[in-house]
Amino acid sequence: MKTATAAGIAGVLERELGSEAVIGPGHERLDDYGRDESPLPEFFPPECAVLCQSTEQVAAVLRICKERQVPVTPRGAGSGMCGGALPIKGGVVLSTEKMQRIKEIDPADLVCVVEPGVITGVLQEQVEAQGLFYPPDPASLEFCSIGGNAATNAGGPRAFKYGVTREYVLGLEVALMGGEVLRCGRRTAKGVTGYDLVAGFVGTEGTFGVITELTLKLLPKPQAAATVLGVFANVPAAGAAISSLLRGGLRPRVLELADKTSIDHIRAKSRYRFPENAGAIVLIEVDGDPDSMAVQMEKIGVACDELGAIDVLGATEAAERRAVWEARRLISPSLKAAYRVKVNEDVCVPRGRIVEMLARVDRVSAETGILCAVFGHAGDGNLHVNLLSHDDPADPAVREKMWGAARRVFEHTIELGGTLSGEHGIGLTKRDYVPLEQSEQVIEWQRKWKTMWDPSGLLNPGKKLPGRKSSCSE
Ligand code: MLT
Ligand code: ZN
Repeated sequence: MKTATAAGIAGVLERELGSEAVIGPGHERLDDYGRDESPLPEFFPPECAVLCQSTEQVAAVLRICKERQVPVTPRGAGSGMCGGALPIKGGVVLSTEKMQRIKEIDPADLVCVVEPGVITGVLQEQVEAQGLFYPPDPASLEFCSIGGNAATNAGGPRAFKYGVTREYVLGLEVALMGGEVLRCGRRTAKGVTGYDLVAGFVGTEGTFGVITELTLKLLPKPQAAATVLGVFANVPAAGAAISSLLRGGLRPRVLELADKTSIDHIRAKSRYRFPENAGAIVLIEVDGDPDSMAVQMEKIGVACDELGAIDVLGATEAAERRAVWEARRLISPSLKAAYRVKVNEDVCVPRGRIVEMLARVDRVSAETGILCAVFGHAGDGNLHVNLLSHDDPADPAVREKMWGAARRVFEHTIELGGTLSGEHGIGLTKRDYVPLEQSEQVIEWQRKWKTMWDPSGLLNPGKKLPGRKSSCSE
């Protein structure tokens, strides 16, 4: 949808914000804003991208675009995996990547105040240098931004003990379509005044407003942490062990799974040497009082042994633990580098159905002949099911086959009482599958909610919810 108004928008925004803020038509860097980390082969060219440096600039872009009825797609670091930042209707990409100020870290209030473009890993280092802790740790933490994390309500391995991003966002400043700036939420540990607008904005994938500032809850940094790797013969054995560990009442901070395909793809790049006989690994991490580490590791080791582990390895030294986690974070990029198609899902099932879900994923792989790597936050029931192929992603038959298999995975997830996305979001790639999980009534109420914030449907159009059947504009 390239409207006459969209065509001139770059010039208008340059006049308002200065030419250095706008990447206009013909600029070689503009193409970067038409892609993200989703498995879609298409490229969606925007009319221009605006690299905002302040709330005022974000508000100005939203005011001008509303006046001219130009679609706006907000973008953080572009690390999203569901096409949430793709400008599918053209128009303007509004990037917050330059808004990188950590305005405040307050050890007394246990909060920090940050701009949305701050890289998550950078924030973690800075707060940890002050003895504090920001737990949410998406695997992309070295390049994803905190605004994007809030927009998608990102999780990560430590969500098992500490919860997801939403639990750490106390207050928000949000610029709305039309340019109004809204400050909501609080700085206190508790607070129930009014409706919880903050919780309402987190996870809306930039469809309600653009986050321009976040007040985040911090914790005291755990004094010690230790990692245990339970090596299992295969995925069913590892899955059964995870279920038993959950039932046994152990509460580590991380309870992850990686299958053989995932492990084999990181071996060449990993500083940590994974055992050659690993058919699956259960990655467990504990934290707390330094004196409790040995006891906690011993308990987990004994439990893994009893549950049939072929080996149990400990990593207590900081360098060794770093190597383990670097390797874990390499799984997704390594699979992406090795295959032309990687449909990576993040379905989540109730904890009691993990073993059954793993078996069903295996069945989908066998039935379709598609290689499947499974890893991720299994303790939360949140499995990264990666459907992999060397075929051409643009070939419609390949696309149909891969997304047909993804649909089967979604159907199994829903049958087991699960949800389509535990942490990556819905964006563009999963919007058409939402009716598998939610009733038309629930979807319709969400559409009304979206319309309240963005009556013209200009902000991140075509994302998060399926279009109405009768409408071709959504
Ligand atoms: C991860 O846990 O590694 C990320 O969510 C990335 C992915 O699922 O591909
Ligand atoms: Zn993940």
